[in-house]
Amino acid sequence: MKLWGGRFSKQAAKLLDEFNASLPFDKDLYLEDIEGSIAHSAMLAKQGIITKEEADKIKEGLLEIKKEIENNEFKWDISDEDIHMAIEKRLIELIGDTGKKLHTARSRNDQVAVDFRRWVLKKNIEFTKSIKELIKTFVDIAKEHTNTLLPGMTHLQHAQPISFGYHMLAYASMFKRDYERFKQSFERNNINPLGCAALAGTPHNIDRFETTKTLDFKEPSINCLDTVSDRDFALEILFNISMLIMHASRIAEEMIIWSTSEFAFITLSDEYSTGSSIMPQKKNPDVPELIRGKTGRIYGNLMALLTVMKGLPLAYNKDTQEDKEGVFDSVKNGLISIEILKEALKTMTINKENMLKATKKGHLTATDLADYLVNKGIPFREAHHITGRAVALAESKGADLSELSINELKSIDERIGDDVNLTLENSMNSRKSYGATAPSRVKEQIEYFEKFLKENK
Ligand code: ARG
Repeated sequence: MKLWGGRFSKQAAKLLDEFNASLPFDKDLYLEDIEGSIAHSAMLAKQGIITKEEADKIKEGLLEIKKEIENNEFKWDISDEDIHMAIEKRLIELIGDTGKKLHTARSRNDQVAVDFRRWVLKKNIEFTKSIKELIKTFVDIAKEHTNTLLPGMTHLQHAQPISFGYHMLAYASMFKRDYERFKQSFERNNINPLGCAALAGTPHNIDRFETTKTLDFKEPSINCLDTVSDRDFALEILFNISMLIMHASRIAEEMIIWSTSEFAFITLSDEYSTGSSIMPQKKNPDVPELIRGKTGRIYGNLMALLTVMKGLPLAYNKDTQEDKEGVFDSVKNGLISIEILKEALKTMTINKENMLKATKKGHLTATDLADYLVNKGIPFREAHHITGRAVALAESKGADLSELSINELKSIDERIGDDVNLTLENSMNSRKSYGATAPSRVKEQIEYFEKFLKENK
């Protein structure tokens, strides 16, 4: 007989059990469920709703169940429907009638809300930790490469010389925003649903502030009707992971391009590459490709839950049970993606010489010549034209603009003087505006991220 079977005269159909049950996946919430129940029963005792002895007995039984689950001795039965009823039923088996008092002043609606919310909050923290390590990885690479020239691109075309370190710190900036998003979601959603009961609260003299303290929430939620059907915390983590994996897919894409023989800017380590089953010579960038590919399911999970929640009338509806699998999936795939991205970055070889060679293609210092001429009082449009002629000269010599001698440059226009410097280094070093690529500015950025990492230990 079901725990809720009082008003039913027939057993549920087998097919219904399978369709209705969340137990196969919400098992993962067992710890949060047990902790929530221990906090709830202790509060009931403190308020004189059950006795201290009863609460102790309940706690003992719940800890026994925890052990059973962790030792793989727990007998899962799909007809229990979900983790909440599976544990409660077992508690009653273990301690008898006292176990039947646990569900006083509580409903599965606030129970699932508290369990799932706490699970998600913990994962927000796990993500922040993992992202910090990723940011540190970018900073470590940047430190080694504040002077390593790389063709900075727009439209995936050579644009201006930048340093590889600067490029890495663009990613540090992106992932710092992700860090902040997970942290802010944690703070915003750190509220206690327990005691909201089914939808309207309870006539029992409970103390929601007490369970708030025990369960380490910031405060109890203010409106129970909202709380039992609020899944914003789940949507937020799904969105945060979507944004995170989008960022990860961008560096992944670059790693894929950089590791081609056309670019050869990096070589992925053997540890994080795979071979081909037919072409013996191949080394494939499966790690970044998979990270890029994970965006599909992760965005899908976000869209799925947004759609589930759309138009749901207050308060709890069973639709909401569809909230968990997508979140579990995104969390699992998001965390492992960041973990492996970090390792692939740490272990890749950075081929400076190839980056330099590439930087010498495409006349990357053309803007520098135009800027130089503007400083000599020549209007920008004219400077642009003169520079075009200098580029044509370089082309005719099969050279890059940065490789022309001063005399060659002077032959283009008499206003070009001995002080002209179109080397790649000079171009990079001269971009000293705040947030720019000059090594002095990149060092400043490194300090900024190191300070951030130190302050967010
Ligand atoms: N398994 C359910 C879920 O995940 C728990 C809440 C059930 N509440 C209810 N009134 N049927 O949403």
